[in-house]
Amino acid sequence: MLLLTWWTWYIWSHAAVTFIEAGYDIAILDNLSNSSKEVLKHIENITWKAPKFYEADIRDKDAIEKIFKENKIDGVIHFAGLKAVWESCDKPYEYYENNVVGSNNLFEIMEKYNCKDIIFSSSATVYDPNENPPFIENTPTWNTTNPYGTTKFIIENMLRDLANHRDFRVANLRYFNPVWAHESWLIWEDPNDIPNNLLPYIMKVASWELPELSIYWDDYDTIDGTGVRDYIHVVDLVEAHLDAWKYLENSGKKAVFESFNLWTGTWTSVKEMIAYTEEIIWHPLNHEIVERRSGDIASAYCSPIKAKEILWWKAKLTVKQAIKDSWNFIQTNIR
Ligand code: WQD
Repeated sequence: MLLLTWWTWYIWSHAAVTFIEAGYDIAILDNLSNSSKEVLKHIENITWKAPKFYEADIRDKDAIEKIFKENKIDGVIHFAGLKAVWESCDKPYEYYENNVVGSNNLFEIMEKYNCKDIIFSSSATVYDPNENPPFIENTPTWNTTNPYGTTKFIIENMLRDLANHRDFRVANLRYFNPVWAHESWLIWEDPNDIPNNLLPYIMKVASWELPELSIYWDDYDTIDGTGVRDYIHVVDLVEAHLDAWKYLENSGKKAVFESFNLWTGTWTSVKEMIAYTEEIIWHPLNHEIVERRSGDIASAYCSPIKAKEILWWKAKLTVKQAIKDSWNFIQTNIR
C-alpha cells in the first residue's frame, strides 16, 4: 500500500486516481484544512475504489503512526505542506512548523516501520534566482528567496541525508505551477476559500463567483510585463509521480536520492492566460492591474531533459487544455 499525504485535494486527488488505476492500493492522509471529503466520492466514482482515508495532520506524530500500525505502507508520496509563496512571507513560522517539522515526523515514523521509499513534492522555488535559467537539477539551490522555498530546500536536504545515511530511496520532484482538472470533470481545485493560484481564481471570475481578477503587476521584464510561468497540467504531473515511483521500485539500489524537474518547456504570461480563457468562455474576463504580490518573481524556467531521459516522462497536455478542462468542470457542476 502507498500512503499519499496532502492538504488540498485538488491536485493530489488526481494522483490518487492515477495510482489506483495503475493497480496500487492507497491510503490518504489529509487534515482537511482546505479541502472536503466530497472528493473521496469523486475518486470512487472514477476508479470504483474507495481509498482508505485518515483525517490527520503531519504535525501529529501519533496520528501518522496509527496509519503505519494499521497498514503495511510500502512507500509514501509526500505532497502535504503549505504551498503559497506570498503567504509564507507573511507566516514563516507556520510554514517551518507544518512543512519541516511535519515532514520530520513523517520520515521518523517511516523508518520506524521500515518504509524507506518516498517521492517528495518539492519545488522550483529552491533554485537560486540569480543563476541563469533554464535551471537544471544541479543548479545551486541554497539561496532561496522566500520561507516556502526555504522549507522545500531544507526537506530536500533532510531526505538527501536519509538516503546517504539511512538507506532511504528518494525521488525529489521539482515543479512550479500545476493547473488542473481531471478529464472526467469530476475533480478539480475547489478551494474552500478564495483561491491563491491564478487559474482557480480566473475560473471563479469567469463563472461570476468573484467580480474581478487582480493582475499582480504588469511591469516585469517579460513578454507583456505580467508574470510568466510554466503551467503543467496535473494529469501530466501525476503521471510523472507514477513514473518516479516505478523508477524507485526498479532501481535495484539500496539508497537513492535523485531530483527531477517536471516542466513542459512552454511559458505563459498572466495576460495570455486571460486571453486563452476568454477564447473558451466567450466573454471578457474582468481584471485590473494592482501592485506586485510579496514573494512573486517575474519568470522562472527549468530544463526537463533529465526526467525525459531517466523517467521516460514528457508533458503531453497544454495549459489551454487545462483551462478547457477547468471550464468544463464549472459548466458541469454549476452550483
Ligand atoms: C502565477 C502567476 C502571479 C493570482 C507557484 C505555485 C506554488 C508553488 C510556487 C511549487 C504569478 C499571477 C496569481 C492572481 C495574479 N508551487 N497571479 N493574480 O505564485 O507561481 O506559485 O509556485 O512550488 O504552489 O502556485 O502561482 O498561480 O499564485 O501565480 O496576477 O490572483 O499569476 O503574480 O505571476 P505562483 P500563482
